[in-house]
Amino acid sequence: MSDIKIKVQDYSGDVQELEAPTDMGLSLMEFLKANEYPILATCGGMALCATCHVIVEDGMDLLNDPGDQEMDQLDLLPNAEFNSRLACQLRLNPDMDGMMVRLAADEE
Ligand code: FES
Repeated sequence: MSDIKIKVQDYSGDVQELEAPTDMGLSLMEFLKANEYPILATCGGMALCATCHVIVEDGMDLLNDPGDQEMDQLDLLPNAEFNSRLACQLRLNPDMDGMMVRLAADEE
């Protein structure tokens, strides 16, 4: 059993707790899309479009540090916060159990 629980707040403020698999190599962006959250992910997960921008409300300390490409994209976002991340750059893993994210990119 390698599922973790992640809370997701959508654009209307609704929070859902989802079970996420950590043994499939999915990114958080792919997982959110699979759960029908309206994330464009125009660049396909290359840290180039920032349409997968999320705010990490809880669990920032559970995550790996952002890479240069991700930092560059976050720097360009007018609504970036100190706890902003690109969901495509977060690979689901057991350490993320209990985290909460809020969708932050412009709505589709
Ligand atoms: S999907 Fe484009 S930056 Fe994440």
